[in-house]
Amino acid sequence: MAIKRFGVSLDSNLLEELDRIVSRDHHPNRSRAIGSMIKKQIIEEKWNSDEIVAGAIVIVYDHNKKELHEHVNGLQHEYHCLILAGQHIHIDEHNCLEVISIRGKAYKLKKLVDKMNAIKSIKHVELVMTGTD
Ligand code: NI
Repeated sequence: MAIKRFGVSLDSNLLEELDRIVSRDHHPNRSRAIGSMIKKQIIEEKWNSDEIVAGAIVIVYDHNKKELHEHVNGLQHEYHCLILAGQHIHIDEHNCLEVISIRGKAYKLKKLVDKMNAIKSIKHVELVMTGTD
């Protein structure tokens, strides 16, 4: 894709913030940092529409709680059309970490995340939103 140049005018404090972000996130330059922010915004917009998006749900739960394990598993069967792959890692004696890759209409994926969040005593639910250009 062709690279186009354009001038940007910013308040000096915003420019300082931009440089702080460039340094913090190890962007090679300001252009990459700005590009990354725009992409993030586009992905967020897609996730707020009914477009096809992709991402991952990361969950942590105690595998000793039988009904919790069944609930998490049952939900994944219910939404199997949206789930591309799942990775289950036993992070210690009690806790399981699952990374569930998902793809589908944004509102459907969010519904799955809401249902994960609604499971009583699940320790952590995190949605990683991404998408293609
Ligand atoms: Ni486990």
